[in-house]
Amino acid sequence: MELGIDLGTANTVVSDVRRGIVFDEPTVMLLRRGGSRRDRVLAVGQEAADLLGRTPSRFVAVRPLQDGVVTDLETARVYLRSVLRKAGRRVWAPVRAVIGVPVGSTALEHRALLEAADEAGLRPVTTLDEAVAGAVGCGLDPLERRVHMVVDVGGGTAEAVAFCYGGVLASRTSKLGGDEMTVAVARYLREQHQLFVGEHEAESLKIRSGSDGSGPLVLQGRDAATGRPRLATVQAAEVADAVRPIVDEIVRTLSASLDDLPPQAIADVMAEGVLVFGGSSLVSGFPQELERTLGLPVKLAEQPLTCVAEGAARALRNRPLLAAYGRG
Ligand SMILES: Nc1ncnc2c1ncn2[C@@H]1O[C@H](COP(=O)(O)OP(=O)(O)OP(=O)(O)O)[C@@H](O)[C@H]1O
Ligand SMILES: [Mg+2]
Repeated sequence: MELGIDLGTANTVVSDVRRGIVFDEPTVMLLRRGGSRRDRVLAVGQEAADLLGRTPSRFVAVRPLQDGVVTDLETARVYLRSVLRKAGRRVWAPVRAVIGVPVGSTALEHRALLEAADEAGLRPVTTLDEAVAGAVGCGLDPLERRVHMVVDVGGGTAEAVAFCYGGVLASRTSKLGGDEMTVAVARYLREQHQLFVGEHEAESLKIRSGSDGSGPLVLQGRDAATGRPRLATVQAAEVADAVRPIVDEIVRTLSASLDDLPPQAIADVMAEGVLVFGGSSLVSGFPQELERTLGLPVKLAEQPLTCVAEGAARALRNRPLLAAYGRG
């Protein structure tokens, strides 16, 4: 079995070289605390996400990644193993894998991921910058002499990376992403509509506001004064206003990557455009704001949520690419 894996803060996507996408679910795991004994995994992925907020207190929801990196080895190992099982791995069948990593991850975080992957039975495992993997997933060739620039905006992080001819030229990372946008939407509803909503409702409103056109959106929450359930109507433009400060901050941080690029590199990017992917690239106004601040054309990926895993899978069959950009 050969797998490309995008282990994101918000979503995990696994692409099998031969079968395509075999797993695409939220990065969350529901555990029952064992006290002195081992914790037990009750559910992983969508099933765990659906149970959030509906479980007794002995059950805890765990997010195995924070800001795109592994923070707890044991949790990451157990999570990866469960994902592999759900992705149709047969017990002890060898699994070769390429896993995407944020360009801003430290050597220690990188080490932790490799260790967790090895213990989960992935062997050999190579890591590839997510930006490079996503570019491959969108059909770009990172070995070309021409400079490519990519922006990946996920749930926990955002990054801009420019690369060519087997190496990274410039990069910037922001520790803000879609999660912070969701928090901003929830805060806006509390302050402007006196409505309490959970994370799930706030995220769903954020996503709907980008895709349902510009009309009014209805959502349910609890009245801030009475605590009773109540419906509210919100305009899509209000949601765009609520997330704007986060979008602006991300775009400002990422645009500094241009400072490190020589003029010829900027000319390449100007001619080809900046490729944008990651779930939060779909938030209303993001591509426009990025284009305005960078002063460069921006192109949205066709498959913004799965191109990193697909590119990682493709990289498994591209030795020169792995030799140039892979770390193992
Ligand atoms: N249509 C949409 N409009 C706005 N936001 C969206 C949309 N679809 C997904 N998102 C947001 O995108 C984020 C998830 O994106 P993605 O799956 O790329 O992140 P990730 O790879 O798991 O995280 P990271 O790369 O930061 O580790 C979530 O915050 C989600 O709310
Ligand atoms: Mg990601």
